[in-house]
Amino acid sequence: MKTLDELKAHCESCQNCPLGATRTKLVFGTGNETADLLFVGEAPGEQEDLTGIPFVGRAGQLLDKFLFAVDIPRSQVYIANILKCRPPQNRDPLPEEEDACIGYLNEQIRLIQPKIIVCLGRISAMRLIKEDFKITKEHGQWFLRDGVTITAVFHPAALLRDPRKKEDMLEDMKAIKKKLDELGGAKE
Ligand code: URA
Repeated sequence: MKTLDELKAHCESCQNCPLGATRTKLVFGTGNETADLLFVGEAPGEQEDLTGIPFVGRAGQLLDKFLFAVDIPRSQVYIANILKCRPPQNRDPLPEEEDACIGYLNEQIRLIQPKIIVCLGRISAMRLIKEDFKITKEHGQWFLRDGVTITAVFHPAALLRDPRKKEDMLEDMKAIKKKLDELGGAKE
């Protein structure tokens, strides 16, 4: 695929796993197609399935607040998920669903060429950083994935369940902003 639009058009008809039959809308990803900063969540929730846009529900609104707090405009980032379709009742993605879908994310990464990838939550970190990633211990640490700087923060939904984690989230987001400025700043 040469462009994100082409890739999206291809994904629209995807039936690589059973979630293709139950989705309302595909949630491909949105944002700045040349972003330096790519956020990767887990899978669409109810609001995302209805709208086709990632992180628009309560968790997404909280993510927006953190982006605002550290002065990163949402318009300068790209946001995607490991899965493009909603798992029923928001259950964790199954390994075979991730296997069926991960190629699309890898293509998005290849086309966007972000300087920094931020995994939102443990599911994304376990898939993109390492299988045994421990989010409580290892959030905010920096890794390299195929030459791209990568880190993980708590999933915003986890912050809604346990607001005590918000302090750590703010520190991690400040460090991400700093790293972004160091690596060349956000593209317009
Ligand atoms: N949670 C996610 O991981 N992704 C979304 O798009 C929404 C909620």
